[in-house]
Amino acid sequence: MSDDTISNALKMMPYGFYAFTTKSDDDANIMVVNWVSQMSFSPRLIAVGIQNYCHSYGVVSAGGVFGLNIFLQADEAAIKPALGGRAKRPDKMKEADYTPAPETGVPVLAGAAAYIECKVTQIVDIGGDHDIIVGEAINAEIMQEAGPPDVLSLTEMGWSYAG
Ligand SMILES: Cc1cc2nc3c(=O)[nH]c(=O)nc-3n(C[C@H](O)[C@H](O)[C@H](O)COP(=O)(O)O)c2cc1C
Repeated sequence: MSDDTISNALKMMPYGFYAFTTKSDDDANIMVVNWVSQMSFSPRLIAVGIQNYCHSYGVVSAGGVFGLNIFLQADEAAIKPALGGRAKRPDKMKEADYTPAPETGVPVLAGAAAYIECKVTQIVDIGGDHDIIVGEAINAEIMQEAGPPDVLSLTEMGWSYAG
């Protein structure tokens, strides 16, 4: 623990761990995210905090759609192709094994337990280093049913993206 109490408290919060997938006419991308939450029942809105300078930000802004891929803890290895940015890993998508989701064409990584497809409703500049991408869930598929205790989160990875 550092002596930055705000940072330490933010790191005490549990976070999920997902692949955020994007598609525009001429590009598709996958990145890992943990700043994700449902924000409304009706309509079903999901908010994701996305760096406003990463490759995915440009793709989701142009394409207006995104997907969230959910993984089981047992399939931890399946999310690893989404790690790292396109700037440093220009062949990231060539190396990843994925198929297009039916409604939006966003990537679904091989080994995902479920995915949710969303249409972007708002991109909110919150004055920080991440914008909030808000999307309405328009389709989902569950390939392997599971509850939160079996779903991959940052806790099992032993990693932190908070503070
Ligand atoms: C554990 C972990 C969690 C992350 N969570 C987020 C997140 O919630 N939002 C975000 O914008 N970046 C997050 N990142 C960073 C992005 O995954 C990273 O910047 C990525 O390189 C962006 O890829 P791209 O440039 O191909 O879009 C996280 C990284 C790690 C390792």
